[in-house]
Amino acid sequence: MDDNSERFDRATVLAGAGNVTAAAALYRDILASQPKHLAAAKALADIVEAGQVSGDAAAARKAVIDIETESTYSVGKTAQIHGRFDVAIRCYTKILDMDPDYDDAIWGLAEAHYGNRDLKEALKWYRAYSEKYPDDHESRHMVAALGDGPKPLRASDDYVRETFDHFAEDFDKQLLEDLEYRAPKLLHALFRQVSPGSVTNLEVLDAGCGTGLSGIDFKAYAASLVGVDLSPEMLKLAKARNLYDDLHEGELASYMRANPGRFDLIVAADVFCYIGDLAESLEAAFETVKTGGLMVFSVEAQSKRGYSLTGSGRYAHKPAYVRKAAQNAGFKEIIGRTDTLRMEYGEPVKGYLTALTKI
Ligand SMILES: C[S@@+](CC[C@H](N)C(=O)[O-])C[C@H]1O[C@@H](n2cnc3c(N)ncnc32)[C@H](O)[C@@H]1O
Repeated sequence: MDDNSERFDRATVLAGAGNVTAAAALYRDILASQPKHLAAAKALADIVEAGQVSGDAAAARKAVIDIETESTYSVGKTAQIHGRFDVAIRCYTKILDMDPDYDDAIWGLAEAHYGNRDLKEALKWYRAYSEKYPDDHESRHMVAALGDGPKPLRASDDYVRETFDHFAEDFDKQLLEDLEYRAPKLLHALFRQVSPGSVTNLEVLDAGCGTGLSGIDFKAYAASLVGVDLSPEMLKLAKARNLYDDLHEGELASYMRANPGRFDLIVAADVFCYIGDLAESLEAAFETVKTGGLMVFSVEAQSKRGYSLTGSGRYAHKPAYVRKAAQNAGFKEIIGRTDTLRMEYGEPVKGYLTALTKI
């Protein structure tokens, strides 16, 4: 038996015999060496609250709640990571019963209900978080995506930065292994279809490069490969690949406008799902691409007119809208096709892939 188990047994005997002062001293010893010892914290809170020993009763009870909420949160979070959203929801609900201000449980309920495809409940909890923290970009964006209020024309830079900074570490594993993500490979195949010969001297821009998955396939054609992205954490991972000649932190349209006539090829894989109205980005792309240059990109496809912000927090575009926006910016489409970009909740996510040229 370890020291604290033995001490706890002794304290229980002492308390039972009415020697609460000695018992409390032992509970305090246990908590000094093992602050998360729930049984000792509870026993101490009980006797302090009952006025049997001196001490701050509110602080003693708060210590119990803190230990319980923290361990329940850890169970909930693990369940959520493993897709056990029902267990996660029970844990987070229990936490809020104990401590209504436990913010991670509020956020956890939003995400777990979303994972459970209960979008109404997810909206309720994203809204609760957003009302508590009006400056929080992720919850505000999700309220716009799931609610019936006004929709932004694009995701804010802050939302994109926060979302991908949080997601960066798990991005490659989740996308490649769990979601069978293939947008960069599909864009590479499209590029080879329109540019089949041997090319190795291109100035290539990977717009919204993320962790650099497109760089893997497109490096071979590049005299210089440049990546631009809003998320510093994603960029760190792109840098670690040692594929890029330059990585720039910033918004892609501003970057492209600042670099007129510089690139032979722009690749944008799974980036325009954060931008609804494509006019500004495509006009900037037209400025940065050289005459005779190419742009290949993907969008999530929808059959509805135009584009919409979907419940996932991403935008989907109708292929006809994409073609029209590209044409308005000055591009000519060489090929466009639909294909599966990845999986989501076991269903294929249909995309539209296009290769444009500036003539
Ligand atoms: C889903 S990830 C795709 C990353 C990469 N293209 C790939 O296929 O793996 C979307 C990336 O686009 C970036 N992004 C979204 N909107 C952006 C914008 N307006 N300007 C720059 N980067 C943006 C995000 O930070 C994120 O790294």
